[in-house]
Amino acid sequence: MRSLIEKAEKTHTLTKEEIVSILKDDKYNEELFKAADRVREKYVENEVHLRGLIEFSNICKQNCLYCGLRRDNKNIERYRLTPEQIINFAKNAHNLGYKTVVLQSGEDDFFNVERMIKIIKSIKEFDLAITLSIGEKTREEYEAYKKAGADRYLLRIETTDEELYKKLHPGMSHKNRKRCLTDLKELGYEVGTGCIIGLPEQTIESIADDILFFKKIDADMIGVGPFIPNPDTPLKNEKGGTFELTLKVVAIIRLLMPDINIPATTAMETLNPNGRMIALRCGANVVMPNVTEGEYRKLYALYPGKICVADTPAHCFSCITARINSSGRVVSKSFGYRKKKV
Ligand code: 5AD
Ligand code: SF4
Ligand code: FES
Repeated sequence: MRSLIEKAEKTHTLTKEEIVSILKDDKYNEELFKAADRVREKYVENEVHLRGLIEFSNICKQNCLYCGLRRDNKNIERYRLTPEQIINFAKNAHNLGYKTVVLQSGEDDFFNVERMIKIIKSIKEFDLAITLSIGEKTREEYEAYKKAGADRYLLRIETTDEELYKKLHPGMSHKNRKRCLTDLKELGYEVGTGCIIGLPEQTIESIADDILFFKKIDADMIGVGPFIPNPDTPLKNEKGGTFELTLKVVAIIRLLMPDINIPATTAMETLNPNGRMIALRCGANVVMPNVTEGEYRKLYALYPGKICVADTPAHCFSCITARINSSGRVVSKSFGYRKKKV
């Protein structure tokens, strides 16, 4: 096991079988985490990039079995911010010191190309990098957003296991999701993807496939989080993912993709009150604090136990900055694009 970790640290390659054996054996976790931390320091140094998350609509036409925003969930109050509110939240994020905002929503067709372009162009005037996280669109739509000024796009593959994907995403296709990721790459976006750890019926082997898939498509950012069963969904009685396994996946991703951006995800902090800081010591180099204002945060309920639902953007910014600084890292002043080194 030690020689496998050493191989990954030196060559940034592992076979599927090797990934599986690391994921299945917990005796060497500390060595794994330390190796990932060394690779993180060597390739992306001590800077942590903050991305301000604006959750602008919780209306979604999809029906993903695990997600609280799924269209069949009648137990949540739906909201949609106005373009003016979205632009204003972005401006406030810029004033706090953010260099990037992430515009995230359910798949909400109210925000068509025309409306999105107006929002993107207005936000670009604040000298912010823009990440979109608004789901599956046509190539033409992605192209229009890119031209308007969007820089990055987040679209998790969720799982590379096609059978499992089908069961969890009624009416959606794995093929189209991969088409989206290819289009986004070709159009010049920095592309973020990722998966959920601990989905029902997900195997360790399929998580190893996920990791190799991320490397194969040369993703620029990989976000992974544990599955957290949502009581308002059909998966309410399933077991959730564990913090430890998610952390191991983060570490292996850093070993295999040394120069990419890896967020310490909010879902990890839901399972462990220090989850994001721990992830930052095991390979991660990005945090995405919420910059949505008012009551909307708690309505954007993908899963229960979401952190910071009662906090303000200013509070989260100073909270996370202080914690990053006291861990010996620094908040980056740059836009935080991936610098390719391998
Ligand atoms: N548990 C963990 N992650 C979830 N997501 C949605 N619902 C859940 C859940 N119950 C994740 C999906 C989606 C991202 C925005 O949130 O991976 O891509
Ligand atoms: Fe909609 Fe995304 Fe939730 Fe699926 S995961 S239901 S697409 S918000
Ligand atoms: Fe929101 Fe700490 S990041 S309170």
